[in-house]
Amino acid sequence: MEADRIKWDERYGGKDHLFSLAPSRLLAEKLELIRSLVTGRRALDIACGEGRNGIFLAQNGFEVDAVDVSGRGLARGRNRAAQLGLQVNFVRADLEQYRLQGIYHLIVDFNFLLRPLIPALVEALAPGGVILMETILNAPTLQGVHTGEFLLQPGELERLFAGFQGRVLLLEEDPSGETPVARILFQKAG
Ligand SMILES: C[S@@+](CC[C@H](N)C(=O)[O-])C[C@H]1O[C@@H](n2cnc3c(N)ncnc32)[C@H](O)[C@@H]1O
Repeated sequence: MEADRIKWDERYGGKDHLFSLAPSRLLAEKLELIRSLVTGRRALDIACGEGRNGIFLAQNGFEVDAVDVSGRGLARGRNRAAQLGLQVNFVRADLEQYRLQGIYHLIVDFNFLLRPLIPALVEALAPGGVILMETILNAPTLQGVHTGEFLLQPGELERLFAGFQGRVLLLEEDPSGETPVARILFQKAG
């Protein structure tokens, strides 16, 4: 949506990186497990922002598409990938409209919640492919100002994946800390 693009372009317009250059800790921790689960190396980083997770995956041998609505976030990702000599296919698109193209062995979705997109993500997985997702949970410890619709409710992540053919390999809610999160590792049936 245009309002999202404007908001995020402003946020990425500042001097510093909004997120660390390092990948999500969860992704780094689960990389070896994921490699052992999937049969190919095609990956999609959903709402990639400045591309920290897609770049990490490219560094680790994945062929990565990385989608975001913010041209400024993507420009930062492109620059960093070029500096590192990595190929990442950064795509500017509004995920509320975008039709996923291709089949992926791994889809990562960090700090982004678009509930209607989840069935399309599962559809875009190769048999045996996995989705790793982690985003903010609405819990009493949550600090800062957040838009309610972008917060997971307790128990919701499990419900969002309950109807799909496959298995849940990890499902956690961490309601402590200033940014409580819920996370899932889901593998599509082979
Ligand atoms: C909290 S950031 C997370 C960035 C990245 N996943 C990470 O963890 O480093 C949320 C991202 O969602 C993107 N975004 C928001 N609405 C979007 C939409 N409708 N389509 C595509 N990207 C969107 C923003 O541009 C922003 O980069």
